Amino acid sequence: MRLAINVDHIATLRNARGETQPDPVTAALLAEQAGADGIVVHLREDRRHINERDVRLLRELVTTKLDLEMAATDEIINIACDVGPELATIVPEKRMELTTEGGINVIDNISRLKDAISELHNANIEVSLFIEPDINQIDAAAEIGSDFIEIHTGVFANSASEEEMYDELDRIRSAAKHAKKLGLGVNAGHGLNYLNIKIFREISEIDEVSIGHAIIARAVLVGMNQAVKEMINLINFR
Ligand code: PXP
Repeated sequence: MRLAINVDHIATLRNARGETQPDPVTAALLAEQAGADGIVVHLREDRRHINERDVRLLRELVTTKLDLEMAATDEIINIACDVGPELATIVPEKRMELTTEGGINVIDNISRLKDAISELHNANIEVSLFIEPDINQIDAAAEIGSDFIEIHTGVFANSASEEEMYDELDRIRSAAKHAKKLGLGVNAGHGLNYLNIKIFREISEIDEVSIGHAIIARAVLVGMNQAVKEMINLINFR
């Protein structure tokens, strides 16, 4: 299981004072040096954390893999095609949300997403769709040519009981197996942390986890190097 790290929250801290520090680009490079397999940033419509300068600099400097999380709007698709991340992860985006609240409904947005995927493919960018662990959504993602899915793990992470958590884990495992059979790459993320990763790492079908808040929150206190290495050790624990 690979680890991609989302550095949006470093930009949130920077923007809180309208300053230049801390710099999400520096944070990304430190995360890579500590062993991260990829860097994720979400360029939001309202630019509340990551901005275009960050994305362009990251494109120049990230040597692992740059995953641009984005809404499927014309403006952001044009920026993505110009910048050229290795992967574009399409998410639903609501202005008022604190963070992405759930997966995109592929079935209800099939023609818009199909067009977005083909534009991104024309720019040699692979595409992932952030979706719920739902077989019908996965079938739709494969049908319109997505390369990857990213399974939303928020329900797993926020389960109120152990029973609920294991039920959701089973659902995610079945979804991941189904996606693999269809030839899709399988990423997962949202709400994963230093505790629940010990359960989540059991799903061998997941190619990559995308983790932001937990690692950045820890990095603020112990440093990026230690925060990343601790997570890598947990993911690889056997
Ligand atoms: N994957 C996607 C698609 C997301 O929107 C987010 C949140 O930015 C994450 C992963 C990371 O979630 P968290 O910050 O809870 O680790």
